[in-house]
Amino acid sequence: MSDWTHRHVLDLAAFSLEDYTTVLELAQRFRAMPTSGARKLPALQGKLVTTLFFEPSTRTRSSFELAAKRLSADVQSFSPSSSSLSKGESLLDTVRTYVAMGADLLVVRHRCTGVPASLARDLDLSGDRVAVLNGGDGLHSHPSQGLLDLFSLARHFSPDSPTPAALRGRRIVIVGDILHSRVARSNLWALTACGADVVLCGPATLLPQAFTAFVDAPPPGQACDPVANRGRITIERNLDQALAGADAVMTLRLQKERMNQNLLTSLESYHRAYGLTHARLQACAASVPVLHPGPVNRGVEMSGALLDDPSHALVEEQVTNGIPIRMALLYLLAAG
Ligand code: NCD
Repeated sequence: MSDWTHRHVLDLAAFSLEDYTTVLELAQRFRAMPTSGARKLPALQGKLVTTLFFEPSTRTRSSFELAAKRLSADVQSFSPSSSSLSKGESLLDTVRTYVAMGADLLVVRHRCTGVPASLARDLDLSGDRVAVLNGGDGLHSHPSQGLLDLFSLARHFSPDSPTPAALRGRRIVIVGDILHSRVARSNLWALTACGADVVLCGPATLLPQAFTAFVDAPPPGQACDPVANRGRITIERNLDQALAGADAVMTLRLQKERMNQNLLTSLESYHRAYGLTHARLQACAASVPVLHPGPVNRGVEMSGALLDDPSHALVEEQVTNGIPIRMALLYLLAAG
């Protein structure tokens, strides 16, 4: 844990293998805590965690707030609709108001790429010692989701020792609306860093060919990639081919709110070509895990029967694992 150097968690491009190991080890310890009775640790006593979600959220916001409470932090949450943003106050001035009230950690979600990073830069420049966690920005990044997906997979493959090594050499298929998915982008950094080979699958309108070059260049803003040997990324448009020999499958929501034109002919034809069902999974191992970050469009990305089948679906496990992962991130940033 002594190697942890991040002041903020804005994306996973800057994460080294040691960072993933640190977060997963800590999350595994928090995951073992009882979920009833005495379930609080005093680690963040006296700290204030403020959640600022400028975009809707069901899981991420409540999971961060619960994680903060489990570490005994005070929690404050901001609601954009009833705020002074509607009176013309700038985003930075609104955020500074919460910093002036004593926030130590800000969890920020925004529909525009780069907002958490710009806030972190502005607050650093003005000498504020507040840490910023990205709760999802535009199409760009959703680091806590990438980490909880990684943790869920590592626990599936290696329940007693869920380290990055559990992912090495695995074939992980990500299928769906990859173009609009910050979850897919965070997973690409995390999974390839741990040595998994990622197969991306989806129609050309939702999965541009350029995605194979995703990790060829150094991460944005860095001179070199902090990870030496990444897994490969390939594109396979045919889902049955992609699924052959897969160790895990992740499917993604069609982000209709981010589509400004008709990118699909119909939901039925999308489901026929790219929807996951029990029949489709026959090309994989008998109990292949299926992940989805939620919210799920039942019968579109995956059949209702598959979503409700605990022998495949890790969806609820992902939600559960989100809490210890976010506890680990809050703990590391507050301690730093
Ligand atoms: C995702 C998000 O908001 O990026 N959801 C989540 O955080 N669990 C994915 C989505 O909205 O489809």
